[in-house]
Amino acid sequence: MSKKKHDVMKRYNETASKYDDRYKIIQEKKYREIFSMIDYDITDIILDVGSGTGLLLDYLSSSIENIICCDLSFNMLVEGKKRHSKANFICADSDHLPFRDSSFNLTTCISVIQNLPEPLQTIKESFRILKRGGRFLLTALDKIYSDKKLRDICVRAGYEINKLWHLSVEDFSVVAKKS
Ligand SMILES: C[S@@+](CC[C@H](N)C(=O)[O-])C[C@H]1O[C@@H](n2cnc3c(N)ncnc32)[C@H](O)[C@@H]1O
Repeated sequence: MSKKKHDVMKRYNETASKYDDRYKIIQEKKYREIFSMIDYDITDIILDVGSGTGLLLDYLSSSIENIICCDLSFNMLVEGKKRHSKANFICADSDHLPFRDSSFNLTTCISVIQNLPEPLQTIKESFRILKRGGRFLLTALDKIYSDKKLRDICVRAGYEINKLWHLSVEDFSVVAKKS
């Protein structure tokens, strides 16, 4: 594992117990805005890449059994497991997702890629594990990603961009499709 990845993992492991208090309100605002832009079916099989403590699970609570949370930080997942003992939490690196090709209807990656040494690799992995016609929801901090940079990286991974806009809080957001 690269030093950057190791440092990110360590930082989230050390701060996991405080994450929800600090970020729950702002992350929920992002989910509300993003999910208002798509037709979301509660039977969709979803992978939340870089799920952290599973705040998205709280938000989409009606379909917990269809959602897999995947994160590099074990302690972030443990926090989620405390709230959702029956949910699916998997500790894995987003650059090497342990899933077969074409497995999911929807993949989300919210406030994650600014931490990644090779964001294109993660976005390519999200493309690989999506079914044809599946959608990808991505957000990234506007301080680090311009809208153009975000569009370019998604297109390079193979996606068709459906929507790209600035959320009311801190991130650019993309809805993309695997055509
Ligand atoms: C700002 S948090 C966002 C968590 C969650 N998506 C949310 O909306 O609250 C970033 C998360 O990305 C995870 N992460 C960073 N690098 C990762 C990697 N290479 N693979 C998987 N997860 C990673 C961190 O451990 C952390 O939980």
